[in-house]
Amino acid sequence: MDFYINNIREKDCACDALILPVTEGGPGLYDGLETSASRLIKKVLSKEFRGKKNEVFLIPSPENSKPQRILLAGLGKSGEVSAETLRQAGGKSASYLRDMGMKRVALSTSVIASLKLSPSHFIEGALLGLYTYNRYKEEKNGRAISSMRILSKPSKEFSKELDRIKTVTAAVCFVRDLVNTPANDMTPTHLAKIALSLKQKNLTIRILDKKDSQRLGMGSYLSVAKGSDEPPKFIVIEYRGAKGAPLVLIGKSITFDSGGLSLKPAEGMEKMKYDMAGGAAVLGVLKAVAALRLPVNLVGILPATENLPGGSASKPGDVVKALNGMTVEVVNTDAEGRMVLADAIGYAKRYKPRAIVDIATLTGACSIALGNEAIAVMGNDRGLIDMVKRSADNTDERVWEMPLFEEYKEYVKSDIADIKNTGGKTGSLVASGYFLKEFAGEVPWVHLDIAGTAWAEKEKPYTPKGATGVGVRLLSHVMRELK
Ligand code: BES
Ligand code: MN
Ligand code: ZN
Repeated sequence: MDFYINNIREKDCACDALILPVTEGGPGLYDGLETSASRLIKKVLSKEFRGKKNEVFLIPSPENSKPQRILLAGLGKSGEVSAETLRQAGGKSASYLRDMGMKRVALSTSVIASLKLSPSHFIEGALLGLYTYNRYKEEKNGRAISSMRILSKPSKEFSKELDRIKTVTAAVCFVRDLVNTPANDMTPTHLAKIALSLKQKNLTIRILDKKDSQRLGMGSYLSVAKGSDEPPKFIVIEYRGAKGAPLVLIGKSITFDSGGLSLKPAEGMEKMKYDMAGGAAVLGVLKAVAALRLPVNLVGILPATENLPGGSASKPGDVVKALNGMTVEVVNTDAEGRMVLADAIGYAKRYKPRAIVDIATLTGACSIALGNEAIAVMGNDRGLIDMVKRSADNTDERVWEMPLFEEYKEYVKSDIADIKNTGGKTGSLVASGYFLKEFAGEVPWVHLDIAGTAWAEKEKPYTPKGATGVGVRLLSHVMRELK
């Protein structure tokens, strides 16, 4: 979609549809639009359309005004409009107009400006809401919006803001594509190829194969890969945008999680292709950060493998040795995420990082606790956790903190090894966090569990069904704040 920024009046804007954001109760501001137009809007506002949040209403525009149609986009009560309201209105309006076959659309920004908000949030929502995934469909839906004219005074700052929004939303859509790809195509080898394709100035990519990982002693990670014929790939990406110790981002990259010998039930197992959503998010963040040339040092680590119950699969009760020397009892082969993350954290420490952030679809208990509305966050560093919380407020990729009480140590205490990979159902969300904490040790670290948020069963205003790309906007914001 092409964007134009023009400081022209609404009635002079030639387009298929002009979007007029409207707050609940009245247009007021559009009185100057053109008398017949505002009369029309007032008429509609009294009955069919009230301007409630996410309400949209398409009307023909009056004679002698250039837009063909007007889309009224409800924002709700004027005192309650936030950046998130605009994102949702953007997603809703854009997908509605696309489905109606509109090509050239325009956005009036006067109401948004009067609310002291930026139209960029609306555009962000539109770009996210227009996403579709039809790679495997013979018949593609050809409908697409070709251009959006933003009726506003052009400025350097706004153009820059728009570029940033385009870069970050493109990274979100890139991640959605990766996560939506079926596991027969999205193998660890394919994920490694995708990582290699990101190569550019300031970005170096290294792929460790099974032999490399064996040589290093990543027994915890490799114990997960044993049951599959697909070769594991330990993917490492370095971005150098500054000097000093890097921040390491680790993304769980299980390209398919069958549970291993602790096999999952058949119902819903097809969704376990999204068990690499953490890794995909890390690739997305690196892609965005590199495109924006942010002045940070970043390392991304994706411990990629399948978790299958093949003939040489790990067995419940096995004990393996992690990279850091700790022994782990594999009580349940379905708790494989923490096994691969443990060695990724061990590897991350070689960089003497200033901090480690991991992002993972780690536990079913996460979605039981928080539903699909928030990421669970845990960590060992108050400053880092608070920083993530601030970015969550800014991006509305919400997080909710869970505790890591010392008492949880008992939950992962093994009778025969240094630690066990699960203590059962009780406190399984926090126990998984505690397990990782033991590997993070003294390094400032936060863990993000995205099991409830990485996949949308139902569409939301700017999130179509399927992979959500969660984490990209949140962590890209963290990278911008990082100094
Ligand atoms: N990948 C799953 C967690 C998951 C479940 C993500 C549903 C998204 C939707 C993870 O590997 C897993 O199986 N976790 C187990 C851990 C248990 C065996 C301690 C779980 O949560 O059931
Ligand atoms: Mn599992
Ligand atoms: Zn898993």
